Amino acid sequence: MGEKTGSPSVTRRSNARVGCLRSTRTADSVHTLALDADLHGIMWTHHSLLRNHLCQEMTKHDVNAIALASPETVAQMDKLVFASGSSSTLFLFSFKMSLIPGLDKFPKHTLTLGKTPIHPLKRLSAALGGKVELYAKREDVNSGLAFGGNKTRKLEYLIPEALEGGYTHLVSIGGVQSNQTRQVAAVAAHIGLKCVLVQEKWVNHEENEEVYGKVGNIQMSRILGADVRLDDAGFDIGIRQSWKEAMEEIEREGGKPFPIPAGCSVHPRGGLGFVGWADEVREQERELGFKFDYIIVCAVTGSTQAGMIVGFAADGRARRVIGIDASAKPKQTKDQVWRIAQNTAKLVGLGKEIAEEDVILDTRFGGPEYGIPNQGTLDAIRMCARQEGVLTDPVYEGKSMNAMIEMVRNGEFPEGSRVLYAHLGGVPALSAYSETFRHG
Ligand SMILES: Cc1ncc(COP(=O)(O)O)c(C=O)c1O
Repeated sequence: MGEKTGSPSVTRRSNARVGCLRSTRTADSVHTLALDADLHGIMWTHHSLLRNHLCQEMTKHDVNAIALASPETVAQMDKLVFASGSSSTLFLFSFKMSLIPGLDKFPKHTLTLGKTPIHPLKRLSAALGGKVELYAKREDVNSGLAFGGNKTRKLEYLIPEALEGGYTHLVSIGGVQSNQTRQVAAVAAHIGLKCVLVQEKWVNHEENEEVYGKVGNIQMSRILGADVRLDDAGFDIGIRQSWKEAMEEIEREGGKPFPIPAGCSVHPRGGLGFVGWADEVREQERELGFKFDYIIVCAVTGSTQAGMIVGFAADGRARRVIGIDASAKPKQTKDQVWRIAQNTAKLVGLGKEIAEEDVILDTRFGGPEYGIPNQGTLDAIRMCARQEGVLTDPVYEGKSMNAMIEMVRNGEFPEGSRVLYAHLGGVPALSAYSETFRHG
């Protein structure tokens, strides 16, 4: 494509930032033009006044490429939104930025607020010596639905099937303080389906016995109208009998249950949300003008890390995704991450295999047990809170935060590295640990 910038104020990069022109009229209605932040908008016109106006709009909206394209080029574009034959007419189209175009063939039901922000963790980086730049991508604030979190992004790819298939109930499973089940309860309410949740005794929570089953995630799920069923089974990320029984019961009563496994993980589309996350990071990297050297992500049921591995395998960075085990049963978690990554890679047509060595899972920080913080977890939660005003939880994110802090302290990242911490949510469980934090 013969590209030229229409104005020196528009910075050209090889990849345009998303932009789309709303008006389809030409010179006489330039004042109605506006750019959206949803499509890659590239326009073509011979009219210099119009071109200048477009450039101003692009600058205002931080769109950094404008192309002068011939109609032939336009015809080759991925999606032509509008075209007309005359020489002064705008051509408006989008083209794919994704390195994983196979992802687009899966329907997506929007449940999140859009692209999640990346925040520099400046004070935390400085407190750790300033040799490594730490950043956080904020899945903990990704949705307006009951605090969101990583499952909400995954559910965007599961819910279309639930809606199209005429299901009556979403049925899911997790621990008593599961973030997954709270997010499923919120999504069920949002789309108008019933919700049944099996909540197992995944955590030995003696210290917080008084409140554990009443506050936080489980409290919210109950308020959200879910039918919460407690079960005494211990921690396990596999498929459980209690969950199957809940579905059979719904069927006996004439309902149609839509099964959502723990963490959405072993659902065939459970990994897709975080494949898309990698594309989103790449887009943000273009805006930031640099690439992250490492991604830190907490792993338990596996599909978050698996999706990221597939997403970053597309540009050769699979091994830059460092999973931090929080299951304290790392073999099961690693096997599951690998299995989901292999299946997801096939699903999106990645075109390469995910090898076992592509799955990096650090097992040093998950103990003593799933759901029980160690001293390092608690220190990291406090440090991140006091340096950044950012909260993490004792089950998941406190463990990966501890890992990142310790790795910086140990000099495990080369000097000058930029490290992206995936903040996956989890804070709604904090009140269930009120005894643990009674002194702050
Ligand atoms: C807050 C939070 N962080 C991390 C994880 C781990 O993600 P995954 O289960 O996809 O490995 C979960 C869920 O299990 C979670 O709720």
